[in-house]
Amino acid sequence: MAIGNSRMTGRSNLRRDARWSDLERLRTSSPMYDAVIDEVRGRRIRIGRHWLTDFASCNYLGLDLDPEIIASIEGQVRRWGTHPSWSRLLGNPSLYPEIEEKLTHLLAAPDSLLLPTITHIHSSVIPVLAGEGMVFLDAQAHKTIYDGCMTARGMGATINRFRANDTEHLAELLRAAPAGIRPLVCMDGVNSMTGNPPDLPSFAQVCREHDALLYVDDAHGFGIIGERRPDETSPYGARGNGIVQHFGETYDNIVLVGGFSKAYSSLLAFIALPTWLKNHLKVAAAPYLYSGPSPTASLATALAGLDVNERRGDAIRADLHRKTARVLAHVQALGLHTPNRSGTPIIELPLADERDIDLVCQFLWDRGIYVTLAAYPLVPRDQVGFRIQITAANTDEEIEQLIETLSALAGAVMLREAA
Ligand SMILES: Cc1ncc(COP(=O)(O)O)c(C=O)c1O
Repeated sequence: MAIGNSRMTGRSNLRRDARWSDLERLRTSSPMYDAVIDEVRGRRIRIGRHWLTDFASCNYLGLDLDPEIIASIEGQVRRWGTHPSWSRLLGNPSLYPEIEEKLTHLLAAPDSLLLPTITHIHSSVIPVLAGEGMVFLDAQAHKTIYDGCMTARGMGATINRFRANDTEHLAELLRAAPAGIRPLVCMDGVNSMTGNPPDLPSFAQVCREHDALLYVDDAHGFGIIGERRPDETSPYGARGNGIVQHFGETYDNIVLVGGFSKAYSSLLAFIALPTWLKNHLKVAAAPYLYSGPSPTASLATALAGLDVNERRGDAIRADLHRKTARVLAHVQALGLHTPNRSGTPIIELPLADERDIDLVCQFLWDRGIYVTLAAYPLVPRDQVGFRIQITAANTDEEIEQLIETLSALAGAVMLREAA
């Protein structure tokens, strides 16, 4: 009996493994997966003897290469050592309250709490917020949000999924939810594949009508989109203070999660929230008590990044928008499909035939263009393709190189055409 059971478990594990076979094949065969980068010069990277232009990093503002940010590290490391290896509950270098204060001010949020990564936040904070209640999860939410919800389920919460970006479906599910327990709604801000933000005001309204708490992961919006102003330097808005400010929303019933690991090129993340909840999470969310904190270099670059953002951020975003708009205009002129309707620097290009992913990868590699391959099951089969991320540190010549390569790919009928 025991043997039979373990065979069955083995078989179902293998079936589950088969889902990952495309990815495993690419991991071992594709030069663009699991690569070792030997050298970086600006946005040029060397893998072995091959130089490529990098359109795969999320360093949107180019702060990873900014001399002022780089220079900020040494003094802080001399002052604090390389790593403040206390549990946060025991001790925090004063860099923490300094960053939290600046961040809270930038976001115009009631308060903020820093933790090492967004992944830590989802896995620990979603279960605390959900308790044994009901969670409503966007069907296309990022994997790390999904995993946080699965942890919440293991701790007694009930998980319901609503159709991606569908406020009416969410409202219908919330109407049917039992009264007396505050529902939690989890979703992405700027989507990591499409580059589009959700209709936040409509989601916020539905949540407020049902006294639900809206939990939004704006990993890719923070640092790029921000408050709208007559003097904004681009349609991204001003100050890069994230999706809540971009839509002119308040933080009533909204908890915003974001991170420094994309636009700010640093290993740190935050949750914008009321002070009572911040204090509760200090004892209830595992990473504050049990995980190692971010290294001093990350705290230094996050702090310097916030200063640079105040002084130069809008000029950098204007440049980023100009470069991105150039690529998007070319994609449109070629008649190609991309889901990006927002102009953010995340441009997903699905293939005409998903089986061509190895060919397309080789094509891009040969022309010296490095991208994020979007293979199954990272994306559904009908969305297999690649994602280009533009950063402010890409030169105009590199943008030109990308544009010429896209023309050649479109000419070889490898990319899906717009409907
Ligand atoms: C939407 C989204 N959430 C969370 C993460 C993970 O962020 P972190 O590196 O801070 O854990 C990513 C990273 O790719 C992401 O795209």
